[in-house]
Amino acid sequence: MSDALEKTNLTFDALGVSSETDVSALFDALLRSAEEEMASAKMGEELESFRVRWLGRNNSVKSRVQENWLKRAAPDAKKWVGASFNACFRKLEEDFAVHKVKPAVTGTSDCMDLSLPGVVRPIGTRHLIRQTYDEIERIFLSLGYTVVEGPEIETPYYNFEALNIPEHHPARDNMDTFYLESAPGYLLRTHTSPMQIRTMEKQKPPVRIVVPGKVYRRDNPDATHSFMFHQLEGLAVDEDITFCDFKGTIEYFVREFFGASTKTRFRPSYFPFTEPSAEFDASCVFCGGKGCRTCKQSGWIELFGAGMVNPAVYGFVGYDAKKLNGFAFGIGVDRLAMLKYGLGDIQVLFQNDARFLRQFP
Ligand code: DAH
Repeated sequence: MSDALEKTNLTFDALGVSSETDVSALFDALLRSAEEEMASAKMGEELESFRVRWLGRNNSVKSRVQENWLKRAAPDAKKWVGASFNACFRKLEEDFAVHKVKPAVTGTSDCMDLSLPGVVRPIGTRHLIRQTYDEIERIFLSLGYTVVEGPEIETPYYNFEALNIPEHHPARDNMDTFYLESAPGYLLRTHTSPMQIRTMEKQKPPVRIVVPGKVYRRDNPDATHSFMFHQLEGLAVDEDITFCDFKGTIEYFVREFFGASTKTRFRPSYFPFTEPSAEFDASCVFCGGKGCRTCKQSGWIELFGAGMVNPAVYGFVGYDAKKLNGFAFGIGVDRLAMLKYGLGDIQVLFQNDARFLRQFP
């Protein structure tokens, strides 16, 4: 222990210092012994007792020096004692602030090194399919639609019959169906259209719904096919819905989703549950309509099927076909995601390769 430390109990007069040089040497010695002691303080408690002993408010070295040396110095010495006092303890406080967060100290104590970079934890993101659904749903929600969901295990009645696809209808062949061996009479839905029926059975018109969900078909996986994929069904039924509402709604959706400059067109098509039916195309999102490999030089890309609800369907749900009109559409969500994000292979959506998924934060 240095002399200087012991001298903190003496009054200034008893120190026997008489010059500015003496005073600053005295404080230097004091600071040195403080630093030595600080170096050996490592744990939380040791650090705290060091702080109390040297810098605390009552009976610390600092308060004793202030009381005995500074206050009791002769008037002409006060200036040097004050300057040295300030320099000494300011330095000690600064050094202590650094010391207590040093890694060597924190390694054995409960203090933190605030200067170290934080621990970066990997954070997941919404899957690209979920992001695509969110975007589509946002657009339809803004038009007053409600999101509803339904069962993936269905009966032939909802999946086919009530949608005007009776047994032996050729449309059933296009949708190679998984029938459940373990639950005879049930199947995995081949499309989200059954929810049109389930909704209308329960709800009086007007109806305005979109139905996101997984659908299943016995397809061999390749770049554009998967035995499970995603659709979003839409249905609007009311007393005064026209073909113009149908066209306007779908065009609005496509421009919101792909951008305002996207052009659209209808082509006649056939679905048993809509009449008339249409296939909806958009100007190729890759070449802007000039013609490229993706659109097979046509400038157009097939987007999804749609149509005015076939009055025969109303018969299955007890709606008055004479009073009501409506339209429906069935969007392939994987296809829309592939077009929007330029994916050449549908399988990347199902492989859960983090290197792919991370590209869509
Ligand atoms: N359900 C049809 C399919 O999966 C898609 C579809 C076409 C749905 C026309 C509709 C529609 O609602 O009006 O192939």
